[in-house]
Amino acid sequence: MVRIAVIGAGLMGHGIAQVFAQAGHDVAIHDQSAQALATAHERVAQNLRVMGLPPDAAGRIRLRDRLEDAVSDAEVVFEAAFEDLAVKRGVFARIEESAPPSALVATNTSVMTIGDVTALSRTRERMLGTHWWNPPHLIPLVEVVQGDRTDPKAVERMLALLREVGKSPVHVRRDVPGFVGNRLQHALWREALALVDEGVCDPETVDQVVKTSFGLRLSMLGPIENADLVGLDLTRAIHAYLLPHLSRAEAPSRTMEGHIEKGELGMKTGQGMREWPPGTADAVRSALAAHLVALEAGRRA
Ligand SMILES: NC(=O)c1ccc[n+]([C@@H]2O[C@H](COP(=O)([O-])OP(=O)(O)OC[C@H]3O[C@@H](n4cnc5c(N)ncnc54)[C@H](O)[C@@H]3O)[C@@H](O)[C@H]2O)c1
Repeated sequence: MVRIAVIGAGLMGHGIAQVFAQAGHDVAIHDQSAQALATAHERVAQNLRVMGLPPDAAGRIRLRDRLEDAVSDAEVVFEAAFEDLAVKRGVFARIEESAPPSALVATNTSVMTIGDVTALSRTRERMLGTHWWNPPHLIPLVEVVQGDRTDPKAVERMLALLREVGKSPVHVRRDVPGFVGNRLQHALWREALALVDEGVCDPETVDQVVKTSFGLRLSMLGPIENADLVGLDLTRAIHAYLLPHLSRAEAPSRTMEGHIEKGELGMKTGQGMREWPPGTADAVRSALAAHLVALEAGRRA
């Protein structure tokens, strides 16, 4: 049994805590928001019920009002506070002060480098990134990011722990913004938004093209496998012709900026790049959750 501490009980933190509690580890969780902490047990229990599992593991997660109490006996600490450099650096300073010196300390930042997050820390050899994906209890991947100062043994310990709780961790060997997954994902989103900006097609068409073509293959066939499957000679011919025409925009999309200026932020406001009449956003969320739960059930079977 490993003693785990999670800082931040939001969308990601409560799911990360769930993964370790489900696997029988000792988990403490802290959040600066009393409400986030008070609802953590019920949110984890609800996730477990949706997965068709007994909700008991939820009650075993220890809730801690003070960060220092959550980390004081921890062997591994996961930080899942706001995506804000100053906040993360402040949380790391407090963890460094109060956690045992041997504890691993991981940030769940989505895109920031481990070097940036730990720049003010003294014990950087035990600090690393663990980039979980939402929802963390249903998506298998965790990117384990090695910072320039991270001890390779810390990376090995983290990879072994994540494998042990059923995750599919990968080792990201260089500390680059966005790691592997978000660089790939946002390369696609940049092109998707550029196609709309340039009037090539409407947003609905972009989504339909992805969902009814290569999106169907992606969970079985990665892009490198796919290049090998069609042949590198064909891939080279396509790239030689096409790559000069792809977006290399360094700024966010014009169309997206226009929506944001009008307060159209997406599903939460009923209008974003696409329109979301009442009920439609919830239908998408439910369909996605059911899809991920079914995939997870298949993996467990
Ligand atoms: N949401 C996603 O899809 C996703 C995916 C991967 C990684 N991440 C990353 O995970 C981290 C958490 O994201 P989230 O979506 O769970 O956010 P969230 O807003 O749902 O939760 C963050 C929680 O951290 C708490 N918090 C903030 N500052 C704190 C502090 N100083 N001390 C204690 N608690 C504090 C907040 O009260 C909040 O409950 C971010 O770095 C985010 O970029 C998010």
